Amino acid sequence: MTTFPDAFLWGAATASHQVEGGNVNNHYWQWEHEEHSPFAEKSGDAVDHYHRWPSDLDLLAGAGLNAYRFSLEWSRIEPEEGELSRAALDHYRRMIDGCRDRGLAPVVTLCHFSTPRWFHNDGSWLDPKAGDRFARFAELAAPILGDAAHVITLNEPNLAAALPVLGAMAARGEEVKGLPKPDQALTDAFLAAHHRSLEVLRGAGLTSIGLALVGQEWIAEDGGEERLAEHRAAFEDQFLHAAADGDFVGMQVYSCARIGPDGPVAPPADLVTQAHMEYRPQALGASVRRVREVLPGTPIYITENGIATADDAQRIAYTEGALRGLGEAIADGADVRGYFHWSLLDNFEWFSGYAPTFGLIAVDRTTFIRTPKPSLSWLGEVARRNAV
Ligand code: NOJ
Repeated sequence: MTTFPDAFLWGAATASHQVEGGNVNNHYWQWEHEEHSPFAEKSGDAVDHYHRWPSDLDLLAGAGLNAYRFSLEWSRIEPEEGELSRAALDHYRRMIDGCRDRGLAPVVTLCHFSTPRWFHNDGSWLDPKAGDRFARFAELAAPILGDAAHVITLNEPNLAAALPVLGAMAARGEEVKGLPKPDQALTDAFLAAHHRSLEVLRGAGLTSIGLALVGQEWIAEDGGEERLAEHRAAFEDQFLHAAADGDFVGMQVYSCARIGPDGPVAPPADLVTQAHMEYRPQALGASVRRVREVLPGTPIYITENGIATADDAQRIAYTEGALRGLGEAIADGADVRGYFHWSLLDNFEWFSGYAPTFGLIAVDRTTFIRTPKPSLSWLGEVARRNAV
């Protein structure tokens, strides 16, 4: 039996564009509707969480979990530059209150990838005004964030900064075997936006603010040690150091990165899950140990961990393995304060559309009827016992 610290947060996570539906004013919607869009399908109604969040939270709390991570949709709150939608802000205020009413600690992400069209179409993150624009959004949102347990500024900026590099490689017809190194200009822009919003949120009296980064277990294939160190520094370390300026670091860990002398190496084909990631439950503990080495003393939340699979027994086995590794890292001294499973619901997995299923709850694509999977009650039981 592996036990977890007192007051440990046990939750599930979602992101606005992946679950709400009808986010017509953000750049993903725009991109999904382009003639040669890279998306397998459009997000459309997603899983209508914008309207169904109260019953979704009932399922989460009813199972025994005590926290919920969700994101604000910037394009709803600030539909045009400098224009506040009080109704949208009030919607998210009600969600924060709805979490509290059900005994769930609300963890709120300001920006989970999707940005308003006006922001995207005017230079996006590389525009010199981006940091100020993001800080102003933080200022607009701040009045409702006082009751959030924790606030995350940006979701996975290290992945977002690597996506354009990936796109360029694909356009040149190069084989993509793993994540490339992030673009440095975008990295700098994200970190500046993080710091600008941090100042605003601190000024508004918020005390628990962090950055959520994609993390992994780093594995050097024969002769790959040097390349691994380069990749890891670009992809993880510079972001981790910036995160240390906040109050906590959020880690989102699914799998490992294998690096050979020429860069990333494709995972063994028989281990690849629905979302093209290697099945690697032990990655979570390994990643946490590494974060502790780089940032000794910084509190860590696992803001995402999960698996895309149609086989719910495999989801439980994966999560159990990941939690055991996490528990051992905690026993060895890592200051980890919460675990959020990705995801509460099957949802819109970006370029892959609705085919990969990460949810603890299945959603019928035409009726939106929710069917909790055995993994939901399993994780609820882990939360109640605070042990796995
Ligand atoms: C991380 C991202 O934050 C989330 O949006 C995505 O769905 C999951 N990883 C799974 O790929």
